[in-house]
Amino acid sequence: MSSSGEAELLHTFKGIPFTTRSSPELLKSLDTFDAREDDVLLVSYPKSGTHWLAGVITKLYDTRVTVTSPIELGDISRLEELNKLSSKRIIPTHLDYNMLPPNFKNKKCKMIYISRNPKDTAVSMFHYYRDNPNLPTVDSWTAFFDLFLKGNVVCGSWFDHFLSWEEHEDEKNILFLFYEDMKKDLPKVVKEITLFLNLNVSDDDIQDICNKSSFSEMKNDTEKENSDPSHTVCALTSNRKLIFRKGAVGDWKNYFTPKQNIRFEEIFNEKMKLSKM
Ligand code: A3P
Repeated sequence: MSSSGEAELLHTFKGIPFTTRSSPELLKSLDTFDAREDDVLLVSYPKSGTHWLAGVITKLYDTRVTVTSPIELGDISRLEELNKLSSKRIIPTHLDYNMLPPNFKNKKCKMIYISRNPKDTAVSMFHYYRDNPNLPTVDSWTAFFDLFLKGNVVCGSWFDHFLSWEEHEDEKNILFLFYEDMKKDLPKVVKEITLFLNLNVSDDDIQDICNKSSFSEMKNDTEKENSDPSHTVCALTSNRKLIFRKGAVGDWKNYFTPKQNIRFEEIFNEKMKLSKM
């Protein structure tokens, strides 16, 4: 990563790297954010399938809901805009649990955390670093691999992010989902989501929503539209075209050398020793 690029594009707040699209003033004021009891949070580490999940969830509601831009995006005026929204809010965020505005926790808002094999997440994020002008340049996969393992990437360590949320997995208002489960049996996961959100959706409608949420459908839909700032659920870009790359499980095998895989496994086992994963 070029140090000048890093200096211009990233800043650190509470030890976590953010892009300049998240202003320090906004991040500071998140603690006072006014949550509503019916807010639904869509939480993820970047590149875990957030847009896929958001696409599914919006199709499940027959009432008016707004998928807002991520809570950590923009400057302080954004919070005012979110406050003014009259419809039910689906709020995406890449924040770790400790940085989440306390109001969401106190009001027991429903939160859905989506996670993905960190090896595939790393590869997906590597491409994002290359394609996304809001992120620093990265010279090679080898260089990015080291940054990812050290947690020296935007949104910090995958391990810390996952563990901060996993600690709360048993709370009734939090649903944990995995990208790989969505790939394996999307209707089953969607059914689980409808039960969690108390939505009454028939099996036929679920099947229809799943068909419309396939990788190819979502990629095609995106290619037909012009990129619109309100159209990503990732604070790191407003360009939806950067999101739909390959949509596969196991792409890491095309990137990890055997040595990198051993190193990754060692660090994974050490960091995740108290995890149920
Ligand atoms: P790849 O880069 O591996 O292709 P996020 O939305 O959190 O930024 O995650 C983006 C990742 O989810 C990308 O992974 C993207 O291709 C994948 N993705 C997006 N929509 C998908 C879908 N409908 N089915 C499968 N994967 C999808």
